Amino acid sequence: MKLTILGGGGFRVPLVYGALLTDHAEGRVTEVVLHDLDDGRLHAVARVLAEQASTVADAPTVTATTDLDEALRGADFVFSAIRVGGLEGRANDERVALAEGVLGQETVGAGGIAYGLRTVPVAVDIARRVARLAPDAWVINFTNPAGLVTEAMSRHLGDRVIGICDSPVGLGRRIARVLGANPREAFIDYVGLNHLGWVRGLRVAGRDELPRLLADSDLLGSFEEGKLFGVDWLRSLGAIPNEYLHYYYFNRETVRAYQQAEKTRGAFLRDQQARFYEEMRRPDAAALTAWDRTRAEREATYMAENRETAGAGDRDADDLSGGYEKVALALMRAIARDERTTLILNVRNQGALSVLDSDAVIEVPCLVDANGAHPVAVAPLPEHATGLVCAVKGVEREVLAAAASGSRASAVKAFALHPLVDSVNVARRLVEGYTAVHPGLAYLR
Ligand code: G6P
Ligand code: MN
Repeated sequence: MKLTILGGGGFRVPLVYGALLTDHAEGRVTEVVLHDLDDGRLHAVARVLAEQASTVADAPTVTATTDLDEALRGADFVFSAIRVGGLEGRANDERVALAEGVLGQETVGAGGIAYGLRTVPVAVDIARRVARLAPDAWVINFTNPAGLVTEAMSRHLGDRVIGICDSPVGLGRRIARVLGANPREAFIDYVGLNHLGWVRGLRVAGRDELPRLLADSDLLGSFEEGKLFGVDWLRSLGAIPNEYLHYYYFNRETVRAYQQAEKTRGAFLRDQQARFYEEMRRPDAAALTAWDRTRAEREATYMAENRETAGAGDRDADDLSGGYEKVALALMRAIARDERTTLILNVRNQGALSVLDSDAVIEVPCLVDANGAHPVAVAPLPEHATGLVCAVKGVEREVLAAAASGSRASAVKAFALHPLVDSVNVARRLVEGYTAVHPGLAYLR
């Protein structure tokens, strides 16, 4: 089984490889091909993987290439985890928006639109190449904004592209934990778009345990989302939102906190990772130790400003281990070995959320088997959530239209229609600002 990782020089690749190393069963991935545009980054990550593999007898082989077509040929699975414009691009996405007084964040609001506008044309090119060179491959998309990018790729790959994110899994795990339930035995009733979804129930043996959580202030206030959103607001909603909804429900506070931060998240990670990749150039560097130290610092500071505005304190130790690599591995095992399971994934709607058309990519629990991921039927969202989901899907569709046509007017429309952008004039200035700093937006005319 051959797995090709696009963005193979990326910082989180060792997480994926670490997950592969735990799999010793028949039908596992035996060959990993890393693709990246940057040879130096490939070399750095390959060093970490070599140290990870040194104690594992059946470790998958690792090769690296900067030739995309060569990387794709013969792949059974393709992971796409690219970052168009790098972390410098992410820092610019944040800076331009915050200067206009609106949210600058990797996936939400103006920053997410700018990132999407840059990324969609590249993702579409990759999808076309996969369709031509590895038509039977399954594509697992981690590239943010994950829902939008998955939808762009699905127009060329159909249901062979599946988007993943660890935030719903982490949320489900936290809720199960405080309820004393086994996450593996619980069904998480969650639906929405990527980074825009709500848990409406958690069923164990057919019984919904969420009302018990909502009724108990101590339990409700004891985990990440309880601290972030506050017990009263969660009760008012009657659901537990994905942590990224903090940017919507507490927009004014998060924008101000991001404006006042010494460094934005993108700028922090840009500098932190530059140090890591620099260190990897030293022949005597302890690669795995340096990587793990950098990873731990990244995890500990995740959404730090949001937690600060909410007075939420530090992250729970149990939340620091990420988890997206586990979702990826579970997904591959289910498809390659028909190990049926239920995972929350980004797939085409196919009627699961009836307010959206069947091609709209949504985030929803799916039954996964050798035939792919099939969304399960879910209860409709309440009106306030439906409103947000439809508004943001409308924005995503404008981004896709702008990327396909190169229309600047469509790009302006995408920003202007976003619920977190408060004036058409702001949207116009955002397009000016972003096209001035991002070479990847030169296609907008
Ligand atoms: C969460 C999100 C991902 C995001 C990751 C890292 O897991 O679901 O989409 O890529 O956090 O965030 P960071 O700010 O550390 O890059
Ligand atoms: Mn995510």
